[in-house]
Amino acid sequence: MVTASAPGKVYLFGEHAVVYGEPAVPCAIGLRASVTAEKRDEGLRIEAEDLSLSGFTVEYDDDETNRPDIDVPNSLVDAAMGYVDEAVAQVREAADSPDAGFDITIESKIPLGAGLGSSAAVAAAAIEAGTRELGVELSKAEIAERAYQVENTVQDGQASRADTFCSTMGGAVRIEGDDCQRIDSPDLPFVIGYDGGAGDTGALVAGVRELRDEYDFAADTVEAIGDIVRRGEQALAAENIDEIGDLMNFNHGLLSALGVSSRTLDSMVWAARDAGGLGAKLTGAGGGGCIVALDETPETLTALEYTPGCEEAFRAELDTDGVRVES
Ligand code: PMV
Repeated sequence: MVTASAPGKVYLFGEHAVVYGEPAVPCAIGLRASVTAEKRDEGLRIEAEDLSLSGFTVEYDDDETNRPDIDVPNSLVDAAMGYVDEAVAQVREAADSPDAGFDITIESKIPLGAGLGSSAAVAAAAIEAGTRELGVELSKAEIAERAYQVENTVQDGQASRADTFCSTMGGAVRIEGDDCQRIDSPDLPFVIGYDGGAGDTGALVAGVRELRDEYDFAADTVEAIGDIVRRGEQALAAENIDEIGDLMNFNHGLLSALGVSSRTLDSMVWAARDAGGLGAKLTGAGGGGCIVALDETPETLTALEYTPGCEEAFRAELDTDGVRVES
């Protein structure tokens, strides 16, 4: 039996614009999904606990789904299970064991569909745990590639490499098209606010595309986000936290202009700024889900906890390990 875990992520800069070839900088955070893989004679049985901060348990196997009362849309649960199915297909291929059977147990504190990369973390951890259980040791580059294939298959060819590369490698990473690299970063004191919801990534990406096709301002806004990312990389290299915060604020304003923020995301962003946070922005596709702020003092966390619409607020450090074997 092997347990592996992988971190979620926030977008420090660049979501949405990355779809049009601009660079983006996601950062892995110390909030992990763990996957335990144990060989069985054949087939696949999946058990999942705590797949959101509110938590639920679901048992799933080839023919039968047993779902207790849960407060997360079933489509999200189905999606999570789809990632595990595809990850196991990657494990079987990597280990040249097409008939390998598994009991898979997932435990994740990463909210589903909220912009924190839950599916990428589950995919990377499942590939690491499954291959190790079969006695195969993959490089991180191969895990990242196979986790990307998982996302790309489940998302009908619409995945970017950002989440899976970041979750596998850890740290701050730079994504530009298919070019993915780890970059230097100081410790970043993240505070995350979660509104309990989830945006529809496909619809939000399509909305930005329509806006960009119709209005020059939207095309210019996408390019402006790219400029912010490039300045952000310099600020990270110079360890200039104040400027990183300012650039996060600018990035959020531009995402709002593209129509992907929401009332609760804006409320949480402003609560974090008013409390003295160095910068705050939505993370991921938007529409609902999470914001990320930078702050070392207790004030931002407390302010978020009291913000109407904020369901959970928590701290998360920059994770530098990426995917790892736990036991
Ligand atoms: O919500 P997330 O974490 O899946 O991020 C979506 C990021 C987008 O740039 C909006 C889409 C993409 O595939 O890059």
